[in-house]
Amino acid sequence: MRTDTPQPIRLADYRPFPFAIETTRLVFELHPSRTRVKAELSVRRTSDTREALVLNGERLKLLSVAIDGQALSANQYAIDPEQLTIHEVPDQFVLTTEVEIDPSSNKALMGLYMSGGRFCTQCEAEGFRTITYFPDRPDVLSRYSVRIEADRKFTHLLSNGNLVGSGALDDDRFFAEWTDPFPKPCYLFALVAGHLDVLADKFITMSGREVALRVFVDPGQASRAAYALDSLKRAMKWDEDTFGREYDLDLFMIVAVRDFNFGAMENKGLNIFNSSLLLADPETATDLDYERIEAVVAHEYFHNWTGNRITCRDWFQLCLKEGFTVFRDQSFSADMRGEAVQRIKEVRALRARQFAEDAGPLAHPVRPSSYLKIDNFYTATIYEKGSEIIRMLKTILGAEAFRKGCDLYFQRHDGEATTVEAFIACFAEASGRDLTDFFGWYEQAGTPAVTLQTAYDEAARALTLTLSQTTAPTPGQPTKRALPIPVAIGLLSTSGEVLRDTEVVLLDEATATVRWENVASEPVVSALRGFSAPVNLTTDARPADRYVLFASDPDLFNRWEAGQTLARDLILGRAGGAPDEVGEERYAEALGQALVDDAAEPAFKAQLLALPSEPDLALMSEPADPAALHAARDHLRARIAVHLGDLLRRLHGDMQSDNEFSASAQAAGRRALRNACAEALSADPHNDNLMRIVGHYEAARNMTDMIGGLYPLVAIGGVARDKALANFHYAWRTEPLVLDKWFSVQGRDPNEDVLERVMALTTHPDFEPTNPNRLRALVSTFANFNPARFHDPSGAGYRFLTDQILAVDAFNPMTAARMIEPLGGWRRYRPELGQLMREQLERIVAHPELSKNVLELATKALG
Ligand code: TRP
Ligand code: ZN
Repeated sequence: MRTDTPQPIRLADYRPFPFAIETTRLVFELHPSRTRVKAELSVRRTSDTREALVLNGERLKLLSVAIDGQALSANQYAIDPEQLTIHEVPDQFVLTTEVEIDPSSNKALMGLYMSGGRFCTQCEAEGFRTITYFPDRPDVLSRYSVRIEADRKFTHLLSNGNLVGSGALDDDRFFAEWTDPFPKPCYLFALVAGHLDVLADKFITMSGREVALRVFVDPGQASRAAYALDSLKRAMKWDEDTFGREYDLDLFMIVAVRDFNFGAMENKGLNIFNSSLLLADPETATDLDYERIEAVVAHEYFHNWTGNRITCRDWFQLCLKEGFTVFRDQSFSADMRGEAVQRIKEVRALRARQFAEDAGPLAHPVRPSSYLKIDNFYTATIYEKGSEIIRMLKTILGAEAFRKGCDLYFQRHDGEATTVEAFIACFAEASGRDLTDFFGWYEQAGTPAVTLQTAYDEAARALTLTLSQTTAPTPGQPTKRALPIPVAIGLLSTSGEVLRDTEVVLLDEATATVRWENVASEPVVSALRGFSAPVNLTTDARPADRYVLFASDPDLFNRWEAGQTLARDLILGRAGGAPDEVGEERYAEALGQALVDDAAEPAFKAQLLALPSEPDLALMSEPADPAALHAARDHLRARIAVHLGDLLRRLHGDMQSDNEFSASAQAAGRRALRNACAEALSADPHNDNLMRIVGHYEAARNMTDMIGGLYPLVAIGGVARDKALANFHYAWRTEPLVLDKWFSVQGRDPNEDVLERVMALTTHPDFEPTNPNRLRALVSTFANFNPARFHDPSGAGYRFLTDQILAVDAFNPMTAARMIEPLGGWRRYRPELGQLMREQLERIVAHPELSKNVLELATKALG
C-alpha cells in the first residue's frame, strides 16, 4: 500500500490568488523532444500580505528564472515536482522563466503534445502547468501574446486571438506572432503547429462585423470539414437569435486532431477537436456522427460566452460553464432536428450514464465540494445533470424571465471568473423569485424518486394528485432534503382525447396534493411530460393507461416513455421469473399500430422500436442479473420480430431511398427507421431475414446504412459475421475513423465468444492503445455496452478491463480513470458478480504505481 496519501482540494478553502498577471508573453521554440518555452509575466501584487509567489509547474526543466531582468540565485527560489516558489518579490515586476519540455514523449495528451506529426495543446483543466510555470487556476485572467518558432515543414503556426505577424528565420525555420485581446485563464490557451489543409468561410455578425472562419484538417481532408463549418455558421446565427450573443474576435478557428482525450475543447478563438467529432462525409460517417458534430461544434462555440467571456472562479464551479453550455447545445439541436426525438435521445443518455453514476459510489453533487484530480469531474453529472438543472430553471421561471436572467448574467459578469451563486442570483433578481431552495439541486447528489398517486371522485368530477419525493443517501450525504421538482402534467380520456393541457406542478416539499376540478371523466394521467425533471417517476398507472398514452399522448416524449415502460416491465417480469406471454403479444400489437401511424415521423418510430437498453434495465432491477436481463430482452425482441415480421420487412423496404445522400434530419430519420427494422429482424434470423440484412449491408452506399447492416450481421454470428467483418476491414483499412467503428461493432458483439475475440483484437496491428478513440472503441464499448458478456460469471470481463486500465494508466491517467466507471456499480449486481467486480477494484488500488486520477476513482468506487 502507498504511504503518501494525496490531499483533496476543498471548495471551502478557496482563496483568491494574491497577484494579478496582467500580461503573459510566451515564446515557443518548437522541437519534438526539446521545446523551449520562454514566459514573461507582468505581475502585480493584489493582496496586502507579503507572501511569496507560488507558481504551478510539472515535468518542466527550468533553465532560467529572472525578475526584472535579474537572474535569481538558487537561494531566492525553491522548486519541487509541482511548484516554483519565489520567496520575496516586489509589488510589481516582470518575471521571466525559461523551461524545456518534451512533447514527443507526452502520451497523457495533456499540455503540449504531438499527434500525427503536429504539435497541439490541451490545457483544461490543469495542463498549462506542464508547459510553463504559471498560476494554473481559472481565476487568474491575463492578456496573452504568443510567438511560435518552428520548422518550415509546418504550414501553420496557430494560437489564440489574431495573427499579427509572421516571417522567416534561419535554418529553414519561421515564426508567427499572435495576440489575444481578451484576458483569459490559462486553461483556454492553445497552440497548434502542423502541416494542415484549411477550409475557409466567413460569417457576418448581427452588428455587421465580418468574422473569418477557418477549419484546419489533415492534408486532403478539407472537404470532410464542410459539415462542421456549416454547423458552426448555424450555431453562430442561433446564438445571436436565441441568446443575443455575438462573436467577438475577427477570426474563429477549429483544428482537428486524431489523438485527443475528450470530444473537443473551447480554447479562445482556436477550438481543438477530436477528429471523430469534426470530419464527416456520407461514405465514412454515420448520421449519428453528423448529429454529434453539429452538437459539439455548437457546444464549443457557445462556450465563447458561457465559459470564456465569463469563466469559472474555481473548478468546483465547472457546471457553471458545462451544464449551461450543454443546455445551450441541446436547445440548438432541438431547434435543428426536432424537439421530441432530441429529448428522447437526451433522456436515454441521461439515464444510462448520469442516473447510473448517481446510483453508485461515484455519485456527487453537480457542484462537488472536494476532489483529488479535477479531470475526474468531467462527468455525466456535471454536464448532463447540470444541463437538466438549467432546463428546470427555465421551466419554473418561464422562457421570458429565463432570458432576462441570462441577459443580466452576461451583462453583469462579462470578463469575470464567477460562481454558481452569482449565476443563480441573476435569475432570482430578474424574476423576482426566491431561488434558495432551487440551489439544492447543485448541492445534493442522487436522483430523486417521485411517486404519483391519483384519485378520481366521479361525483365531484375532481381529480386528486398526490406527489411525493425521496432521495436515497449517497456517499457523504446520509440525509436528503426535498428539492423543488417541476412536474409537467396533462390529462387524457381513456379513449385518448385531450382532457386537459399541460400544467407544471411544482413539488417542493416531501409530499404535495393537488386537486383539479372539472375533470369530465376518469382520466389517464400523463406525468413528467418532456421529462420535466431528472427524477425516477413511479405512478399508479395500470397497463391499460399506458397503452392509451402509447397510442395517443400528444406529448411525444411521454408517448415513447409509455412504450418503454411497458417493454421494461415485460422484460423485468420475465427476467425475474414471471413471464407474461399475453402482455408481450399485446405490446407487439400496440407497437405495430404505432409504427403504421402516418402522422409520426420515421425518426420517432425508430425510437419506438428501440427497446430499453440492457444498462438501463440493470439500473431498474435490484440486484441486477445481466444474463437474465439479456435473455429476457432477447425474448421480447424475438416476439416482436415474429409478430411484426411482415410490417418490419415492408417498412424496411419503404424507407429505402435511391435519392442522393442528404444529411437532413428527415433523411436521417428514414435511415434510422430502416436500420432499426434490420436490427429488429435480426432477432428472427431465418433465411429470408438473413438475406435481407446481407442485402442491406452489401447495397449500402453510405456509412449509416453500412453500419446498420454490419451490426445485425455481427449479432447473428457465424459466417455472416466473419464475412462482413473481413469485407469491412479490407474496405476501410486506411481510414482511422472508420476502423474505430470496426472495433466498436465488435465490442458490442452479443455472441458468447465475444470476450475471446475482443482480447484477440487487442493484439491486432490496428489496435493502438495510445489513441483514446481506438482504445475506447474496443475496450469501453465492450465494458459499457455489452453487459451480458462483460459481466461473465467467471469474472474474465472484469479482469480484462482492469488489465487495460492499469496498462493505460502508465501513460494516460485521464483516459484510464474514465474507464473505471463500469466497475463502479458493483453493489447493484448479483452478489457473486459484485464480489468479483470489487476484487478487481481492489487490485487496481493495490497497484504500486497508480496515478492520482485512477487512485481517486477506484478508491471512491470501492466506497
Ligand atoms: N471543456 C471541454 C468541453 O466540454 C472538455 C474538456 C475538459 C476536455 N477537459 C478536457 C477536453 C481534457 C480534452 C481534454 O467542451
Ligand atoms: Zn464544454
